[in-house]
Amino acid sequence: MFYEPRTGDHGLPKNPFNSLVIPRPIGWITSLGADGTVNLAPYSFFNAVAYRPPTVMFSAGHGIVDDDRLKDSQRNIEATGEFVHNVTTWETREAMNATAAHLPKEVDELAEAGLTPLPSKLVQPPRVKESPIHFECKLIQVVRLPHEKPEDAYTVLFGEVIGIHIDDDLIGEDGLIDVAKLCPIARLGYQDYAKVVAETIFTLERPD
Ligand SMILES: Cc1cc2nc3c(=O)[nH]c(=O)nc-3n(C[C@H](O)[C@H](O)[C@H](O)COP(=O)(O)O)c2cc1C
Repeated sequence: MFYEPRTGDHGLPKNPFNSLVIPRPIGWITSLGADGTVNLAPYSFFNAVAYRPPTVMFSAGHGIVDDDRLKDSQRNIEATGEFVHNVTTWETREAMNATAAHLPKEVDELAEAGLTPLPSKLVQPPRVKESPIHFECKLIQVVRLPHEKPEDAYTVLFGEVIGIHIDDDLIGEDGLIDVAKLCPIARLGYQDYAKVVAETIFTLERPD
């Protein structure tokens, strides 16, 4: 089949787009509101985009709760210039999903999900203790994507990763990250996810 997304004419029961770019890592983003309220939310329009300096990005759609129509993460990070990415794992899957709830900006979403805050070293937003890897990030660029309707507004936020925490238990004797032990989860389309386990990992040597 072929379809032009602008026509919306895919003929399928659901828009297939986010089932076609898979699996996607999930940015689990901590930020601080103007009054210091801790905010935590998952973003699967998320990825690493550079090695040196290490850089990540996530893309926030329009908000539906507050008057400015911004998601709390975007509003907070544009105001403070700081965020933390907490790696999502099989163990944290339910808590991650709970933090997608559309709650007023005055609600501490980390506490609401029964999670434990850990102070960061270089930025103000806390880390999620239940996550074994954290990136402390400084906002470096904001890109507002073109759109026609207000509900299609997406803003991409890029952050330089200025501090990285790794649970020592995840570092094998060979000095490599034990991905099977980490058991990260990834977003597929619809309401589906994947987890990375030992049986699904394979190696390919790159050509010179
Ligand atoms: C796995 C997952 C991935 C998500 N990815 C995105 C995303 O990439 N962009 C987005 O705008 N919302 C995404 N959402 C929805 C947000 O998490 C949700 O709107 C949340 O309430 C935003 O929180 P905030 O206003 O505290 O930032 C995702 C939700 C889930 C469960």
